[in-house]
Amino acid sequence: MRHLIDVMDLSVGEIEELIALATDIQAHPEDYREVCRYRKLATLFFEPSTRTRLSFEAAMLDLGGSTLGFSEASSSSASKGESVSDTVAVVGGYADIIAMRHPQEGAPLVAAMRSSVPVINAGDGGHNHPTQTLTDLFTVYRKKGGFSGLTVGLCGDLKFGRTVHSLIAAMSRYAGVRFVLISPVELRLPDYVREQYLDATGVAYSEVTSLDAAIGSLDILYMTRVQRERFFSEEEYLRLRDCYILTPEKLREARADLSVLHPLPRVNEIATAVDDDPRACYFEQARLGKFIRMALIMKLLGVSK
Ligand code: NCD
Repeated sequence: MRHLIDVMDLSVGEIEELIALATDIQAHPEDYREVCRYRKLATLFFEPSTRTRLSFEAAMLDLGGSTLGFSEASSSSASKGESVSDTVAVVGGYADIIAMRHPQEGAPLVAAMRSSVPVINAGDGGHNHPTQTLTDLFTVYRKKGGFSGLTVGLCGDLKFGRTVHSLIAAMSRYAGVRFVLISPVELRLPDYVREQYLDATGVAYSEVTSLDAAIGSLDILYMTRVQRERFFSEEEYLRLRDCYILTPEKLREARADLSVLHPLPRVNEIATAVDDDPRACYFEQARLGKFIRMALIMKLLGVSK
């Protein structure tokens, strides 16, 4: 039995296979409409979500399966003091696969250790978000045809942004990828991510504070929201929340073939006027998330068409 707790649980080859399967699913959805008949996905969301939870549910429904679950901790027995471990031990008796989001780093790993069915990490605190990374990789692949040699700018809250951590890990495995880490000093990439995936692997990267100075060199610009819920002080959040705002004026300095990604939700780090720019890919990215999650569910359940 396989779980997906960290994106590095998947080899480069497996990610390639998932992208190929997601591409086929998108092109021929009718071929996949029954493959998960009588299978159930449980979505255990102890933290808010729109895209991740609904795209998981839509994914399972489009595979012919069904879904059950909860979307806030307060409506589960966690509010009575039940442990994550006990919750999954029980849910494994009702569902064939579990997608879990939790505010505590490591909670899905603890769940996987106790679970009798595959567990997918749908975001754990400020740590990892492997299925967002699969979505991001699928989008980059769609736009660029591959990953090698790309210059990837990551901008905003690199400290608490879990999607950034998983994306750096995954992309550090492709030859010639270069990262430009754009953040205020207070929101720099955590040392453990930099040491493990950049310093140890020799991947080229730079850390800068100016988006304007960096934007012209990028193939991909990955914007992120300042993660208010992970700040210790509201004052600090208010001071940093508007540190980067991508506008049509700023985009004038960017390449014509830049792709702008964002895991969403957006607060105000991308002006809505950017949405009509052909370089804005974030809504397409959200749509692609369903297909790659369909591919992942099939892989972890060991089903094929
Ligand atoms: C992200 C998350 O939950 O980490 N959202 C998502 O899953 N698409 C990004 C965020 O909340 O800023």
